[in-house]
Amino acid sequence: MSVSDKVAPISSIIADDAKQVSAFLETYFADKTGPAKQLLAAMSYASLNGGKRIRACLCLSAARLVAPDDEQALDRAIIAAAALEMVHAYSLVHDDLPAMDDADLRRGVAATHVAFDEATAILAGDALQTEAFDLLATPHHGLSAENALTLVKILASASGVDGMAGGQMLDLLADERAAAGQALSQSETEIMQAMKTGALIIAAPMMGAIAAGASDDVISDLRDFATPLGLAFQIADDLLDVTADDEVAGKPVGRDKEQGKASFIDFYGVDGARQMAADLMAKSVAALAPYHEKSAPLRQIAHFVINRSH
Ligand code: IPE
Ligand code: IPE
Ligand code: MG
Ligand code: MG
Ligand code: MG
Repeated sequence: MSVSDKVAPISSIIADDAKQVSAFLETYFADKTGPAKQLLAAMSYASLNGGKRIRACLCLSAARLVAPDDEQALDRAIIAAAALEMVHAYSLVHDDLPAMDDADLRRGVAATHVAFDEATAILAGDALQTEAFDLLATPHHGLSAENALTLVKILASASGVDGMAGGQMLDLLADERAAAGQALSQSETEIMQAMKTGALIIAAPMMGAIAAGASDDVISDLRDFATPLGLAFQIADDLLDVTADDEVAGKPVGRDKEQGKASFIDFYGVDGARQMAADLMAKSVAALAPYHEKSAPLRQIAHFVINRSH
């Protein structure tokens, strides 16, 4: 029996983790009783409208690698996973706005600005982001103040000017650069991808590991695992834009080229980009070698990331 035969199939790992984090978010929003009902409805729509929950799954699987039998560690990792998914949901709400990618479909349903309105969607993104940090800063299940601060720092850095938001800026400017005859080079494209998508993917297992009380060495190995994976993740997303249809992807595809987005497909074509994603995934999995079968779920997620259909 191979190592991967001993763990549940990836679809069930992701489904279970997705269920747990969704249930947490549902309760979190249900417990809010303030008067801004429309904002709350949009926030909960944007974060509970499906989604693969890959970041949550990376976070929880990393926590299980560190502390497999510690229920409290897992509860703390669910907090980190929920915060990650709130920031990710915010990034998608804003990414779909008319001023950004102008996409009306997300996760197979109307994008938040279509289901509500643009102003509500902007505020829902803003508030999802700040709620994520509110959640991390609230004392929970023995999460030490020091670890909570570390989680806040990692998530903030991954989503700020040198992370997701900065990468989104470079993504939006790529079109103008191309029109001025200064299209992004391969290394500039890689930096943009690493920022807009890679940063949160790297933060995910690191946050799970920290919530579970990992040593610095383990956290560093998980960073080495997630760095190539983050890039592979965006390459897979860009490939879906070229090869999938709207219904399967759950979002409008075939638009990156017309919107002047920079991607590795520009440099290597579809087959070359596929190979690159596979090479990155192999590199990612190699970083887990010291953990043997304990890391099987993380390795399965890595495979899923490049082989997914949506
Ligand atoms: C889509 O992310 C946006 C990118 C960063 C490429 P996901 O593919 O993880 O989206 P959901 O959460 O499953 O909808
Ligand atoms: C978005 O990249 C990355 C984010 C930080 C949200 P894309 O614009 O390619 O994501 P999709 O294809 O709309 O999900
Ligand atoms: Mg975009
Ligand atoms: Mg987009
Ligand atoms: Mg895309």
